[in-house]
Amino acid sequence: MAHLKWSASHEVFVPDIDDEHKEIFEAVADLRRALTVDTPLTEIVRLTNHVAACTVDHFLHEERLMRAARYDSLRWHKQQHDGARRQVSEFAARIEQGDRTAGLALVEYLSSWLGNHTRLADRMMGAFLRNQRLGLGKMTFQAGTRPLDSCEWVNANGDKFNPRAARKCR
Ligand SMILES: [Fe+2]
Ligand SMILES: [Fe+2]
Repeated sequence: MAHLKWSASHEVFVPDIDDEHKEIFEAVADLRRALTVDTPLTEIVRLTNHVAACTVDHFLHEERLMRAARYDSLRWHKQQHDGARRQVSEFAARIEQGDRTAGLALVEYLSSWLGNHTRLADRMMGAFLRNQRLGLGKMTFQAGTRPLDSCEWVNANGDKFNPRAARKCR
């Protein structure tokens, strides 16, 4: 079985996203623990629903971020999420019917899928988001620190004026 614990190898360097990944890994580990002992089915179903909810919410969060950033690999990334969404919902339906083997199958599937997806697709997305935020930060910084004398200032009537002189008037 794939290793379930979140480690630095899963880090995508976007704090919110890393926190959500840790939460999903923990939810999957809790489900696995419950499946190895004689846990009532209602508790297994509750833990499964928690795994599914964390996963689905997280996918939506990433997709919102990618859409807002106009990430060019959004379609490819979302296709991977869609595949996992389908699988999780199929396993969850079987577990709800009392099929405990589907529980272990879900744990096995997500452990492997999360490892692969976070290390490649999510890391690529993280790099894009960080670069974009850095780029926007630079633009703001430059605009805010541009020397007043390097600009030609025009008022609402189109007349040139000197902002330093205008300040002195106050
Ligand atoms: Fe993702
Ligand atoms: Fe993710």
